[in-house]
Amino acid sequence: MRVITCASPDAVGRTAAECVAEVARRAGPEVVLGVATGSSPLSAYEHLAAMVRAGDLDLTRARAFALDEYVGLPRGHAQGYAAVVDRTVTRPLGLDPARVHVPDGCADDLDAAASAHERLIADAGGVDVQILGIGSDGHIGFNEPGASPASRTHVEVLAESTRRDNARFFASPDEVPHRALTEGLATILDHRCLVVIAQGLGKARAVADMIEGPVTTSCPASLLQRHPDVTVVLDAAAASCLRDAGATGTVGA
Ligand code: GLP
Repeated sequence: MRVITCASPDAVGRTAAECVAEVARRAGPEVVLGVATGSSPLSAYEHLAAMVRAGDLDLTRARAFALDEYVGLPRGHAQGYAAVVDRTVTRPLGLDPARVHVPDGCADDLDAAASAHERLIADAGGVDVQILGIGSDGHIGFNEPGASPASRTHVEVLAESTRRDNARFFASPDEVPHRALTEGLATILDHRCLVVIAQGLGKARAVADMIEGPVTTSCPASLLQRHPDVTVVLDAAAASCLRDAGATGTVGA
């Protein structure tokens, strides 16, 4: 894993955006992006949008796959990941909405929706670069502690800690769904390049377990140690529990 600790939140976003843009330029106009929701990648999306506006990056023919989606929210709900991805990724980055796919958490047949997500990724030739956040319990996508390393896209029951963490996006904690459709750990590990973004003290323990802990399903993110091309972009607070902070590169503000 390549670990980069940044001196400011803006530098976290800029650094992560540069990693993604580098892959996109190498992969060509039909690059396949994997996108995550949550607060962590927002600044990276803003930096990518600025590159697009400046004419330094063209994503009009890119494809994008969202990692996960809540199950049980009405279609079009503002906190459903279909709406969040549209607001924070598709429009600002100038993607073609017809080339952006979010797992269908409203489907009557969720297993069929999960298989369709896997099939569409395979048909697109796989994901070139996946942006990831990490949950405070070490989840990635919505793969909670205990998730199978062999899992493909599936329905996951959310941990109570994840529901509490995500309650800030809803009017009341009771509104946070109990289930989600998520790419599995095996799906994520198939993506060619991973960029993990984490900020704040609340992520420090999970970040240390991901990078320096044993590879164990009790911290799903630790499975990323088995992937050959992972860049982790942190702020100082998220890096604060790393034993070997000297091994991280630091980029300025
Ligand atoms: C959610 C998403 C994850 C995300 C995590 C962290 O649970 N499913 O993909 O990484 O939240 O979110 P945040 O970046 O807001 O802390």
